[in-house]
Amino acid sequence: MKTIAVAGTGYVGLTTGACFADLGNKVTCIDIIQEKIDMLRAGKVPIYEPGLAEMIERNVSAGRLCFTTDYAEALADADIVFICVGTPSGVDGEADLRYVRMAAESIAQTMTHPLIVVNKSTVPVGTGDWVADIISRSQPAPVNFSVVSCPEFMREGSALYDFMNPDRVVLGSKDEEAAEKVAQLHLPLRTRIVLTDLRTAEMIKYASNAFLATKISFINEIAAICERLGADVQDVAIGMSYDKRIGPHFLNAGLGYGGSCFPKDVKALEHMALVQGSHPSLLRAVMDINRDARRWPIFTLREMLGHSLTDKRVGLLGLAFKPNTDDTREAPALEIARMLQYEGAVVSAYDPVAMAPAARDNPELCLANDPYELAQGQDAIIVCTEWNEFKQLDLLRVKEAMHHPIILDGRNIYEPTTMTGLGFIYRAVGRGATFDNGA
Ligand code: UDX
Repeated sequence: MKTIAVAGTGYVGLTTGACFADLGNKVTCIDIIQEKIDMLRAGKVPIYEPGLAEMIERNVSAGRLCFTTDYAEALADADIVFICVGTPSGVDGEADLRYVRMAAESIAQTMTHPLIVVNKSTVPVGTGDWVADIISRSQPAPVNFSVVSCPEFMREGSALYDFMNPDRVVLGSKDEEAAEKVAQLHLPLRTRIVLTDLRTAEMIKYASNAFLATKISFINEIAAICERLGADVQDVAIGMSYDKRIGPHFLNAGLGYGGSCFPKDVKALEHMALVQGSHPSLLRAVMDINRDARRWPIFTLREMLGHSLTDKRVGLLGLAFKPNTDDTREAPALEIARMLQYEGAVVSAYDPVAMAPAARDNPELCLANDPYELAQGQDAIIVCTEWNEFKQLDLLRVKEAMHHPIILDGRNIYEPTTMTGLGFIYRAVGRGATFDNGA
């Protein structure tokens, strides 16, 4: 059992705190926003992550997990402090490190005994050394500490599973003993531990996310080609996936990657490369293709509805950037809504959990209570998020409610033959072979 403090109560911080508490450690989560801490103390979890609220409740009841705004209280008997604060994109795509700086300064000012400071936030290569420097300079009197980088690889929607079942844990530090102590904390996870230096650990995170984003853009580029050549990208991906060197993951063509990580991390890596005089042309292509993927429904609709989208009624099925989350950051649906509105279309949407954040972002969006209400009078529906509940809709009811039975499947959740059989005018990303029923 270790005593741990976790700075930041976003997805990463809360998941890290709850999971370490669940493994039997004593954890205090810190946030500078009093309302967030009040909510958490009142048993409310400010984010939607399956299983997290239950795990938090279980560990609070067992006395292993608590919340505070006070660093001194959290660090009083802590062995290890995790920095899990946000690193949003700055103006040029560089990571904005103001919250990391604030956390490092607060740690420095309140630590009273030797401490291991573990950075879990995704930070530019070199930030670990920078954090060490800030702590040394901000301490009122010198107290020993070591900085370890331990990047997170958790996906929203399956963050608890990913934390408890990682493919690997990466630890980087100059101080081998400190890295070893952090490794011990992860022993119950029975996984491979990669021990390396600080900068390499930081780079592993960016390289991993950039590689996954590249896989998505690769298959989206192939999808665009398939569509023109009359091939089916779904089968192409399956055919590729049996090659062990390629594998089956991250080959779903669609509307491009969104969320709080891939867009920001690819941009930040590009920025780091540029600043160092490198030419990140592959990363640029990845971002370009991702932008084009969001334009697919606009171009396709223009083609189908006669070039002008003015006053056309378009329904978006799904707003979250992916299923099982209420997160709409960099969600394709929101960009598509804006592009359609710019062209004069009237845009409505339905999402099982992400309507509130989407409405804050786009007050002109009309919201429907369910997919059938959404379908009412629409000229077209675009599937933007592959929620399970959309996969077995009463599609005849949907069709009857629509003005024009046009479905653009941005996530390939339906079978083309079924859809055309039901009388829909159906288009799916990268499935050129199915384009024979014309609009
Ligand atoms: C990602 C990484 O997976 C995780 O390791 C990292 O720590 C944080 O960023 P997350 O953003 O939660 O996690 O989502 P993920 O499930 O990886 O999907 C990212 C985006 O890629 C989503 O918009 C998703 O729709 C899209 N995607 C994913 C595809 O378009 N096709 C795919 O085949 C896979």
